[in-house]
Parts: sequence; C-alpha cells; structure tokens
Amino acid sequence: MRLQGKLAIVTAAASGMGRAGVERFVREGAQVAAIDIDPAALKALAAEFEGVHTIAADLATEQGALDSIDQGVAALGGADILWAHAGMPGPASVEDLDMTAYRKAIDLNITSAALGAGRVAPHMRKRGGGSIIFTSSISGLVGSMMSPIYSAAKFGVVGLGKSLALALAADGIRVNVVCPGLADTPMKLGFTGRSGDPAEAAANEAKVVGAVPMGRLVKPGEVADAALWLASDEASFVTGVALPVDGGFTAR
Ligand SMILES: NC(=O)c1ccc[n+]([C@@H]2O[C@H](COP(=O)([O-])OP(=O)(O)OC[C@H]3O[C@@H](n4cnc5c(N)ncnc54)[C@H](O)[C@@H]3O)[C@@H](O)[C@H]2O)c1
Repeated sequence: MRLQGKLAIVTAAASGMGRAGVERFVREGAQVAAIDIDPAALKALAAEFEGVHTIAADLATEQGALDSIDQGVAALGGADILWAHAGMPGPASVEDLDMTAYRKAIDLNITSAALGAGRVAPHMRKRGGGSIIFTSSISGLVGSMMSPIYSAAKFGVVGLGKSLALALAADGIRVNVVCPGLADTPMKLGFTGRSGDPAEAAANEAKVVGAVPMGRLVKPGEVADAALWLASDEASFVTGVALPVDGGFTAR
C-alpha cells in the first residue's frame, strides 16, 4: 500500500475529486480526516469509508480554515499529508464586481490553502517531513475567458505552492499543485452554466472539450490519482511542481 501508516487531511472532501482522493488515500492505507462545509455529504462519506474522521467547516472563513486543520491533526494524532483542495468559480466578470463574491473566491481558493499549509507545517516538521498538495486549475496556468477572478486566484495558488516548496524543502516538506482541466463534478456547472440555461452550459462545455487534445472532460479519479502520487513516497524528489491533469489543454 502506497500510503501505509500515513496521516492525511483532505479539504473539500465530500464530493468530486476530493472524495475520490479520500477513497484512494484510504485504499492505500492512510488514516484520513475529511473537511467539508456539507454535513450531510460528510455523513455519507463516513458511512462509505469506515474510520474516516469528518470535520464540518466553512473554509472560506479564517476560523474555519484554521480550526478544521487543528481538528484534523488532533483526530489523526499528527499529519503527513494535506490535500488542500477547496475552491470555487467566483464572479464571471470584473464589471460591476460583486465584492462579497470576489472576497469569498479569494478566501476559499487561496487563503484557505495558505492558512491550512501554515497550520499543518509545524506538525509535518515534527514527523520529519510531509507532502502538501494544492488544487489549482488549468485556469492557474492560462487565462480563463469565463472566470477571471478564479483564474487570478488559481495563478496565486500556483505561486503559493512554488514559494512554499522553496521555504519548506529543508524540512522535508514537499509542496506541489495539481491543475485539473474542466472536470465532471457538480462544480462544472459553476463554470459552464452560470446563466442557468442548459443549452448554453452544454455549448460552453463543448467549447472547452473541443480545446482538449484528448477530447473529453477530466474524470475526478484521474485528478485524485495525481494527488495520490504526489502524496506518496514515489514522488519523494518532486516539489514545486504545478502538474496539469488536462488531456493536453495547456500543452499548446
Ligand atoms: N470541477 C472542475 O471543473 C474543476 C476544474 C479545475 C479545478 N477545480 C478545483 O477543484 C476543487 C473542487 O472541485 P470539485 O470539482 O472536486 O468540486 P465538487 O463540486 O465536486 O466539490 C466541492 C466540495 O467543496 C465543498 N465546499 C464548498 N464550499 C466550501 C467551503 N466554503 N468550505 C468547505 N468546503 C466547501 C462542497 O461541499 C463540496 O463537497 C476546487 O478547488 C476547484 O477550483 C475544479
């Protein structure tokens, strides 16, 4: 098993790619603490994966982001792995910018990752090292026509990951970033379906898929597999990487 005896915290863990990560981390022998804002989805997660600790928290708040990591560390008795996966699409335009939505997108996409990493690093240091994985996006590598604030935030997540990789390397803490393409999860409609018109959502999705050399959406498990590899000792000399999982979208 690739994560035997490891202690892993996953955020935004109750759906989509985060949930697929919990499944893989448990399968590979890790003890897992799963953080999410949705208590009902966490209950379902705990029922499916015996032994997973679930923590309900709003990661868009400073208190939620810090306390939930503390609770995860306490439940596990330490931490070797953090997959800080939380994020959201944010406003579609900078014209008439809704500042509440803007701040929430920054808080959830970047601030929760920074606070989580800062809170977990001392515990990883105590255990001789660790692996922190952030979730950015293809929109953290190239601009996004549909989501400018999201793209700005996800570029920030890549910068945060690379910077922390430098800062924490001497402590044996690796920091990497996964950059998924448009994925088949509930969040997809937050990008493609903002108008609420299903035909427009389908047209937007087709446009994105048309630009993917491999010609399809990303499956949640494919991103979780990348996170699993980055979490594992197989990636023991890999740090500061922003890894696209995008069927070639950003290869051009
Ligand atoms: N879906 C995509 O197309 C896509 C593409 C690239 C990157 N991403 C990134 O992947 C991550 C999640 O995407 P997903 O597709 O797995 O999503 P998803 O919609 O399947 O799940 C998101 C989870 O986040 C939880 N959540 C929402 N707000 C929260 C908050 N304030 N505090 C704590 N938890 C909260 C939800 O309850 C849900 O369980 C985000 O960082 C997103 O930006 C998504």
